Amino acid sequence: MSTDLDRSTVETAYARWAPIYDAVCGPVMVKGRRAAAAAACAIGGKILEVGVGTGLSFDDYDAGTEITGIDMSAPMLAKARAKMESGRYPHVRDVLQMDAHRMSFADATFDCVVAQFVITLVANPEQVLSECHRVVKPGGRIILVNHLYSEVGVAAAVERWAAKRTRALGLRPEFPFARLAAWAQSNAEAALIERRKVAPFYTLVCFERTPSIAA
Ligand SMILES: C[S@@+](CC[C@H](N)C(=O)[O-])C[C@H]1O[C@@H](n2cnc3c(N)ncnc32)[C@H](O)[C@@H]1O
Repeated sequence: MSTDLDRSTVETAYARWAPIYDAVCGPVMVKGRRAAAAAACAIGGKILEVGVGTGLSFDDYDAGTEITGIDMSAPMLAKARAKMESGRYPHVRDVLQMDAHRMSFADATFDCVVAQFVITLVANPEQVLSECHRVVKPGGRIILVNHLYSEVGVAAAVERWAAKRTRALGLRPEFPFARLAAWAQSNAEAALIERRKVAPFYTLVCFERTPSIAA
């Protein structure tokens, strides 16, 4: 199994992806992106999108939400800002250059945190999950969508083979669900509440920040 991606590999990869990202990754990931946004809209209110990229999801949120996006890639964010400047997305409040490992938001700022196709490629997924947990309100949710490791069979073998060859592209096909579940188990105020398949080959995972035990 390969190790987590490092920050400079991801930054270099997404600087290269930015000019072609919407054309290549727009259609192929659209169902996963929409499923996560729909789950977030069901909660509504202030939504943080971690790894917002070029803002491909902006169309997927309804007007009653207030979206803040963060991403560490300036070239990806420039595309997102261009979409905002079109005036078509008044529900998108801001997009900010920020590392998901160290967010500048106060505790319990958001009703929901969404991360589409991000958690498998950050340098420290558990730290990012803990940051998402910190900035979401008690009772709020963290919604992830990703391709996750198939674990068995031919698909798993292909993913292990591809893992070594796609790192420079900022991709990681062999990230196991068990790591997400283990993070929730290690956090007394986090509960795994949903894990479901989204066609064609994605998984949506939802955690709830349960009210503080001390409260
Ligand atoms: C595969 S793209 C997904 C973009 C968007 N969520 C989508 O669905 O199209 C992954 C994004 O995560 C961003 N990213 C990776 N690591 C990050 C980190 N530590 N902090 C913030 N953004 C990060 C990358 O710059 C990139 O824009």
